Amino acid sequence: METSDNLFPDRNNIPEQFNLPFPIIQSEYLADGEIREWKGEFHEVYSPIFVKEGESYNNYIGSYPLMGKEEAIFAMDAACKAFDNGKGEWPAMTVEQRINCIRKFVVLMKEQRELVIKLLMWEIGKSFKDSEKEFDRTVDYINDTVESLKSLDRDSSRLSISQGIIAQIRRAPLGVVLCMGPYNYPLNETFTTLIPALIMGNTIIFKPPRFGVLLHFPLLKAFKEAFPKGVVNTVYGSGQKILTPLMESGKINVLAFIGSSKVADILRKQHPKPHRLKCILGLEAKNPAIVLYDTDIDETVKECITGALSFNGQRCTALKILFVDEKIINTFLEKLSNEVEKLKIGMPWDADVNITPLPEANKIEYLNGLIEDAQQQGAKLINPSGAQSEKSCFSPAILYNVNSKMRIYHEEQFGPVIPVVSYKSIDEPLNYVIESDYGQQASIFGKDADQIAELIDTLINQVCRVNVNSQCQRGPDNFPFTGRKDSAEGTLSISDALRVFSIRTLVAAKETEINKDIIREIIKEDKSNFLTTDFIL
Ligand code: G3H
Repeated sequence: METSDNLFPDRNNIPEQFNLPFPIIQSEYLADGEIREWKGEFHEVYSPIFVKEGESYNNYIGSYPLMGKEEAIFAMDAACKAFDNGKGEWPAMTVEQRINCIRKFVVLMKEQRELVIKLLMWEIGKSFKDSEKEFDRTVDYINDTVESLKSLDRDSSRLSISQGIIAQIRRAPLGVVLCMGPYNYPLNETFTTLIPALIMGNTIIFKPPRFGVLLHFPLLKAFKEAFPKGVVNTVYGSGQKILTPLMESGKINVLAFIGSSKVADILRKQHPKPHRLKCILGLEAKNPAIVLYDTDIDETVKECITGALSFNGQRCTALKILFVDEKIINTFLEKLSNEVEKLKIGMPWDADVNITPLPEANKIEYLNGLIEDAQQQGAKLINPSGAQSEKSCFSPAILYNVNSKMRIYHEEQFGPVIPVVSYKSIDEPLNYVIESDYGQQASIFGKDADQIAELIDTLINQVCRVNVNSQCQRGPDNFPFTGRKDSAEGTLSISDALRVFSIRTLVAAKETEINKDIIREIIKEDKSNFLTTDFIL
């Protein structure tokens, strides 16, 4: 493993363009259309990047409000008031007016690009290149969402007549949406639910993830300026203190949550009216790669490394276990180990860096625990620098001879450990997928079209995307992204997200002369925002 000399930087050696005037104290929050001054307790933010100051290290980078029940309820009341049972300014707006607000938001958001990218690097340790990608992908996602809504609206801007009934069918908002994204994509994955929920006319309570909170601070003003009062409200703090009262109030209509199934289950159970709550969930995954005996080993190794170790393996879509045909296992392991050893470990701003510091304080202990458990039951650490660590940096570890008795076989490691299992019969990886609690994606690597076709037909009813000679991934964002079993609920993509945050609703009238006259008059004189044949170009 290549490491930068002196892995963690001296304060004076941080490249100027990546530095920030730390600490950043966020003493404001957005609720009921106002950016409000916070006077209560604060949560301290520690970066995964430790900075040398003389003989010691410092990683304190800022603070944000630690809210309680009262502030959470205030945010919720503001969101309820803004929705006003569907009569509020925002849900009652025309689609075109809402699109204009989103466009204004994008302009203001882009002004904060540089700062948000730097905060992504400092708060979660994401490389500069990937942080830029996260910001730009999010902007593209918002722009594509606007285009998709325009096309949805055009399709709904006509009357249907069936069995003597005239109707106009559109999609309407659901109410108040509680949005929570994950720490690995704190901007992108939060916005892939928040923006479609918003643009469909819902009002929002938004809680940033555990890590990646400060990076939303520069966007508060954009939310305030682009949207009417109370449409977007932010809450910060411990889930138990602020989310429990929100859910128990029964006023949350949609829970959009990307994180662990344990937390999702707790939140869902707290809602007193389960049938009124719609859940859009992105949860755990343990995506396997199945490597067939005839695969191009060099290409497969390359793709498996990207799949398993991009952003240190902290992707829900990461390849989290590799099943390799025993006929090629030795060559595969040797090449995998050689390539993993070439990866560069360093700070997020280092050129061509592959492995960066991990944001979770106890992560290294957890990963070592998984490795020890596996080793005690016969697994071997294959690469020479595997599992070496310094502060928050952990060099990727390849574990071979993994079997079903080991924790790593079942648990989602969400970090730089690659468990490898060799198989004799193809039923072994297939049974793994069938018996797994998760069902997001799988990858097949090989050349034989017959065998690949057979595997596709088996796997496609177990997971929601089968990748051929390609790593697992969410994108492109216009493809459906979902999972079976404990991996997800609801489907996201640019167009699907507009559907999950809305409901089909219609105006219908018997085709009588009087009804035709009423409909004609409403449409001609532009009397309704819903019953209209206007469309956006
Ligand atoms: O953490 C899960 C993300 O949705 C994965 O997205 O496949 O584009 O990295 P990605």
